[in-house]
Amino acid sequence: MTRIVDTDYLVIGSGISGLYSALILSEFGKVTIITKEEVTDANTTYAQGGIASVLAASDTFESHIRDTLDAGAGLCDTEAVRVLVTEGPTHIRRLMELGAAFDQDASGSLTLGREGGHSENRIVHAKDLTGKEVEDVLLRAVRARNIEIKEYQSAVDLITCYHLEKDPYLPGVAPPGPNQCFGAYVYDRKTWEIYIIRARATILATGGAGQVYLHNTNPDVATGDGVALAYRAGAVISNMEFYQFHPTALYSPGHRTFLISEAMRGEGGILRGPDGEPFTKKYDERGDLAPRDIVARAIDAEMKRTGAAFMHLDVTHLPREQIMKKFPNIYAHCLDLGIEISRDRIPVVPAAHYMCGGVRTDVNGRTAIEHLFAVGEVSCTGVHGGNRLASNSLLEGLVFADRIGRYIKENQISGQRPEIRRWQKEGLANAEEWILVQHNLGEIKSVMWDYVGIVRSNLRLDRALRRIEMLSNEINDFYSRTVIQNKILELRNLALVGKLIVRSAKARRESRGLHFSTDYAENREPSMAYTSLQRSSAG
Ligand code: SIN
Repeated sequence: MTRIVDTDYLVIGSGISGLYSALILSEFGKVTIITKEEVTDANTTYAQGGIASVLAASDTFESHIRDTLDAGAGLCDTEAVRVLVTEGPTHIRRLMELGAAFDQDASGSLTLGREGGHSENRIVHAKDLTGKEVEDVLLRAVRARNIEIKEYQSAVDLITCYHLEKDPYLPGVAPPGPNQCFGAYVYDRKTWEIYIIRARATILATGGAGQVYLHNTNPDVATGDGVALAYRAGAVISNMEFYQFHPTALYSPGHRTFLISEAMRGEGGILRGPDGEPFTKKYDERGDLAPRDIVARAIDAEMKRTGAAFMHLDVTHLPREQIMKKFPNIYAHCLDLGIEISRDRIPVVPAAHYMCGGVRTDVNGRTAIEHLFAVGEVSCTGVHGGNRLASNSLLEGLVFADRIGRYIKENQISGQRPEIRRWQKEGLANAEEWILVQHNLGEIKSVMWDYVGIVRSNLRLDRALRRIEMLSNEINDFYSRTVIQNKILELRNLALVGKLIVRSAKARRESRGLHFSTDYAENREPSMAYTSLQRSSAG
């Protein structure tokens, strides 16, 4: 007998977007957050960089909008960008009211930093651990509201009209009416049970999918779960080809990839080649502070040209006290590895960092499925276009979480809670086969890194698709026969997301923003606004 838990709003994910959505929705209903590890184990907690917003008297909304559109390579949705920029400052102030301690100068004014692609100083930081500060503040507020947080719970599949007890849509047949979401089938890692959470609205806030790439700056939880859940349920997935590579991850073979924040270049850090010479101006007049896609490609090109395994980020000309004050976390991490960054240059390489595409939404976070919303990195609101402007991501989470809350309230969104088909899949554990299937993860990551990285080609994408489809078929076959556990859910999701990235990359027949193909030149006019993928046989 499948257990059923009823709630008004189910939030899947516990980073900035999930916690802020929960906080707002709790004003008008019961909220349940599910998260697959501990609540703080979200990408947000690891975000070093800050939140971009127009807060200085000398700054303007028009300037932030222009910078965002420019970074987005002609593909941003202008309305969504305007919403992001103009509604942003309110939420920074709200975070401060909740207790967020952003860096201030001696007079008590916010210290505003600059990062690549910004023409003004507009980024608030809490030293080099901004995300952790925000996560802690929001979590305190969520706990004070008595919002239910269920840890170690993974969404297996979204529940839609295909899962109704009475008159379900037939699998593989296009629905006669709009598909709707009624919650999710959830795997409880503590009891190994699969149960139903039935909700009037479901909010996907599951973050990105950095783990699909061999080298990435993301925590282990970033396995693209939300995109995979939404795709299987029949939502539209857009712009997955735009995976952002951060130019500067610490080069430290044998250790976990660690981000060296772009804020360091904002403070005056200089990228240098193996000969010690700066090189980024050869690629763009804005040099080290050009938008991220350009700087990452410049590093990649110099590594290939010189045969070097890494480039250098040099902050040795900055006062030691300034480095220690602004970047205590980066300083301590590098020192642990024997790099004293006020004296030594930092070895850096690009690494996968941020998913600019995702579940397509409108400016109220609505997806193609009724009562299913998406917010933050998992969503594709149109604000990032072909390349996200630095420090716009935490801002996006705040602004669109708030808009989802307001939309649900103003439109009195209240889905039904019908009878849902019980969970039916059963399987047998097979430890030996599981060990072999797990090796597929390493293969997917390598294929994605080698063939679907910073520089792509038609040949590489064809090869990648063939390999990933084969690995994905093996994983799905194993999934259909085995008992559910967290790691097989993640593997199944990662394989699907890898496939969606490759299929989107193949569909975009031009070089634009983060998608650079040696087979296509960069055009002035985009060949299409969005690449879109939708499963024709949901259910
Ligand atoms: C960074 O600190 O460089 C990352 C900030 C971001 O991803 O916007």
